[in-house]
Amino acid sequence: MKVLLGVTGSIAAYKSVIVARLLTKAGHEVKTIITRGGENFISSLSISNLTVNDVFTDDDFWMPGQKIPLHIELARWPDVVVVAPATMHFLGKLAHGFADDLLTSTIAAIDRPVVLAPAMHTEMWNSRVLQDNVIRLKIFGYEFVGPYEGELSSGDRGIGRMAEPEDIIERVIQIGKTERKLRGKRIVITYGGTEEELDDVRVITNKSSGKMGVSLSRRAKELGAHVIAVVGRVEVQPLYYDEIYHARSVDELSMTLKEIVPDADVLIMAAAVSDFKPAGRLEGKVKRGERLVVEFEPTEDILRSLSKDKKPGQIFVGFALESRNLLENAEKKMHEKGVDIIVANYATAMGSDFIRGYILSREEKIPLKTLTKSELAIILFDKIAEKIEK
Ligand SMILES: Cc1cc2nc3c(=O)[nH]c(=O)nc-3n(C[C@H](O)[C@H](O)[C@H](O)COP(=O)(O)O)c2cc1C
Repeated sequence: MKVLLGVTGSIAAYKSVIVARLLTKAGHEVKTIITRGGENFISSLSISNLTVNDVFTDDDFWMPGQKIPLHIELARWPDVVVVAPATMHFLGKLAHGFADDLLTSTIAAIDRPVVLAPAMHTEMWNSRVLQDNVIRLKIFGYEFVGPYEGELSSGDRGIGRMAEPEDIIERVIQIGKTERKLRGKRIVITYGGTEEELDDVRVITNKSSGKMGVSLSRRAKELGAHVIAVVGRVEVQPLYYDEIYHARSVDELSMTLKEIVPDADVLIMAAAVSDFKPAGRLEGKVKRGERLVVEFEPTEDILRSLSKDKKPGQIFVGFALESRNLLENAEKKMHEKGVDIIVANYATAMGSDFIRGYILSREEKIPLKTLTKSELAIILFDKIAEKIEK
C-alpha cells in the first residue's frame, strides 16, 4: 500500500518515526510531508533513512521549476493518508479549508481516506474551538484514531496522548483491506426523498436531506469504487459520483433502479422512499376550499422487488427509519426484503449530520452511538467489504 504520512509540530512527532518505520517494515511504501512546525521536532533525514523514500517540507513546496505542482503530484500518489501527530493548529486549518503549506494543500486535493491522529495537551483537546473543528472534520469524512488518555509530555495525565503507532497502523491496514475489496466495484447509492404529485403544483415528500448519500458516496469514492448516484429531492449538492440519475417519484426511482441494479455489485438504498402516493392525481392547481380529502395508495416496495432478481455476490443495503420497536421492525425488514445489511435509525437522523441506531446483518447487531453520517459510512463500507470477502 502507498501511505502518505503527514507530520506536524507536536512533541509526539518522535512517534511518527515509529509509524513510518513499522509501515515500511510491513512492506508499505511511505512518503512523508513534514510541516514547518514538525521540523522543529524531527528531521527529514531520520524519516527518509527509515522509510528509504521521499520526505518533503515546505522548502520543496515553494521550489520553482516543477512541471506539476508538488501538492497535486503528491495528492495523486497514495492509497491512504495518515497525519500523525495532528496538531490543534493543523486540524483547525483542515476544518476550515486553509491550504497555506504543502501538507494542507496536498490534503485539499486528496480523494483518498485520510486518518488523523491528534496529539495535544488535555486543555487544548478539551477546548470548544478544537472540539468544534473535530466535529466538522468528522462530518466531512476525516477519520480519527485517538487521542488516548494517559501520560502527556508535560508529565500530566489526561486525554490528548497520540494513539499508539501500532493502533494507527492497524487502522491504516484495515482501510487498505476494505479498499482492495471495493476498488472498481459498481456501487449504486440512492438518496434524498421522493416526491409524489398531488396536483400540478403540490407534492407529498419527506424531510430527507440527502446528507447520508453524500457521505456514503464520498467514502465509496475514497475507496476507489465506481459510484452511481440516484438522487431524489435533496437539500445538499450531490457530490462524489461517477454517474448520476435523477428520480423524483417512487415509480421513476423504481424504473431507474431496475435498469442499473443488475450491473451493480452493491446497492445502498439510503433514499427515503414514500410508502404511499395519492390514489389519483388532481388536475390543475386545486383551489382553496373548505377541506380537501385525499386518498393514498401504497407504493411499490422497491427493495423487495429488486431482491427477487438479486444475483449471487450482489450486496444490498437498506435503511430502516422507525419511530417504534426499531430493532424488531428493522430485523423483520431485513428478512422480508432480502437484504444483507440494514441500518436501523430514528427520525432524528432526517436532515441532520448525525445518526444513531444499529447496523444489522444476519451475523451481527452493531449498536451505534451518535455518529456523524460520514463515520457511519466508514463503518458501513468496512462491513460491506467483509461481506464481499465472504
Ligand atoms: C515544545 C512544543 C510542543 C508542542 N506540542 C504540541 C502538541 O503536542 N500539540 C499541538 O497541537 N501543538 C503543539 N505545539 C504547538 C505547535 O507546534 C504550533 O501550534 C505550530 O504552529 C504547529 O504547526 P503545524 O501544525 O503546522 O505543524 C507545541 C509547541 C511547542 C513549542
